[in-house]
Amino acid sequence: MGYDAKFRVWRGDIDGGELHDFTVQVNEGEVVLDIIHRLQATQAPDLAVRWNCKAGKCGSCSAEVNGRPRLLCMTRMSTFQPDELITVTPMRTFPVIRDLVTDVSFNYQKAREIPSFTPPEDLKPGDYRMQQVDVERSQEFRKCIECFLCQDTCHVVRDHEENKESFAGPRFLMRIAELEMHPLDVADRRDLAQEEQGLGLCNITKCCTEVCPEHIKITDNALIPMKERVADKKYDPLVWLGNKLFRR
Ligand code: SF4
Ligand code: F3S
Ligand code: FES
Repeated sequence: MGYDAKFRVWRGDIDGGELHDFTVQVNEGEVVLDIIHRLQATQAPDLAVRWNCKAGKCGSCSAEVNGRPRLLCMTRMSTFQPDELITVTPMRTFPVIRDLVTDVSFNYQKAREIPSFTPPEDLKPGDYRMQQVDVERSQEFRKCIECFLCQDTCHVVRDHEENKESFAGPRFLMRIAELEMHPLDVADRRDLAQEEQGLGLCNITKCCTEVCPEHIKITDNALIPMKERVADKKYDPLVWLGNKLFRR
């Protein structure tokens, strides 16, 4: 059964904007992205929204619904009461381009700062077989669709522009962890994570894990193990002794 919903949508650009109220038809089985498309078709033809697959797989339609980072195409209208006011705003952590579209290039910059997979130089194809347990460990992280909702929600950067330079965010700390745990990667990424990409700023609030549409256990399976690896190196008695003797 269809009904009319109350929507409040942020409209504007980098110079500012405001929330606009709409009353819009909702049909059974629809998601928030359907309603935004109906607004474009009937009341606001120039409303900007980024989307592509409408199947929760491209990671483009990230925004905030009632203040929660969400994929618009995976947020069912049936999760709201028919008389509930639904507010849709752009991701808060990134600069807005227009309406619901944000500039997420911060994330591409962080991705570029991570050295790529580094296997041993003399390893030939077929020389090594990975154990299933190692395959599965990195497989979880590779489900990431780069929606950047975890980056948007993490309090370290959400309202702290000044932290952005020194913090890669959960998605990219997870990428470092994925490579660090890879049995064939010979690069030591622990100093990179701790000293250059801000692993120490993460205080394990797990908000990133809560909003991940792929249900990746970012905190438990990537960030905490990475912190443990950093601690192992720092407090390893042999490393400590080596630092004392040779790095004076
Ligand atoms: Fe999105 Fe999850 Fe990947 Fe973060 S880890 S970018 S929330 S899919
Ligand atoms: Fe941020 Fe996730 Fe850590 S939300 S503080 S990166 S656990
Ligand atoms: Fe692709 Fe929503 S449109 S994830």
